[in-house]
Amino acid sequence: MPDTKGSLGQGAKKPVDLTELKKKNLPIVVVMGGPGCGKGTQCDKIKGKYGYTHLSTGDLLRADVASGSARGKELAAIMEKGELVSLAIVMDLLKEAMVAALPTSKGFLVDGFPRDMEQAEKFSAELGMARVAISFECSDKILTDRCIERGKKSGRNDDNPESVKKRIDTFHKQTMPVADFYKKSNKLQVVKADREVDKIFADVVKIIDKECAGAK
Ligand code: AP5
Repeated sequence: MPDTKGSLGQGAKKPVDLTELKKKNLPIVVVMGGPGCGKGTQCDKIKGKYGYTHLSTGDLLRADVASGSARGKELAAIMEKGELVSLAIVMDLLKEAMVAALPTSKGFLVDGFPRDMEQAEKFSAELGMARVAISFECSDKILTDRCIERGKKSGRNDDNPESVKKRIDTFHKQTMPVADFYKKSNKLQVVKADREVDKIFADVVKIIDKECAGAK
């Protein structure tokens, strides 16, 4: 029997209706940076201060894996290799989560997306340009150390030296051009992420207050 949720084929799925989402025009903040740069840590704090909805594509994908679906098994293998999951799957998960959160949301923190140029172009074509893209930058050594340290208790099967190396490689090759994409649109804000969490957050607050003014 065909299993539309469990299949990697997306053919039978109805497109997500974005009408209300576009009408509300809530601020969208893109949060980017290498594995372990602190995207999730900072998004928790932004969510606490501004009431924005935090949508991590990594978390959405891990929830799909945890559901035990056939598709989840295929996703788990891709994620463990540190490669990117296909555009259609990630876009659908993200759009569905945005539409579901719409009634109560004050804005969206899109964490870990877009991750390549194809995602960036498709997302802005369908949902418009983000208010701002915050890019957290630190060295590959710090990224590696943080992920390996977290891996001791996170249970994430991609927090091991081999997967982390591949994730960093994928980040440099496929995600860095996305920063240029936002830079060209004057939407990129770079924040140094090799500092204490609260110091980083102080910079983040200045950026959001400026770029998403009135949306608090
Ligand atoms: P994803 O879940 O997005 O993982 P990631 O980008 O590798 O980022 P992490 O969640 O590992 O780290 P983070 O930046 O959120 O840092 P955190 O705050 O946790 O993606 C996983 C996989 O899913 C991808 O490899 C891919 O396969 C797939 N995927 C996801 N999105 C996709 C997409 N759009 N398209 C296709 N595939 C996609 O912090 C890390 C650690 O450091 C924590 O222990 C934290 O406590 C610590 N820490 C944080 N900040 C600091 C600080 N300032 N000082 C010291 N320690 C700190």
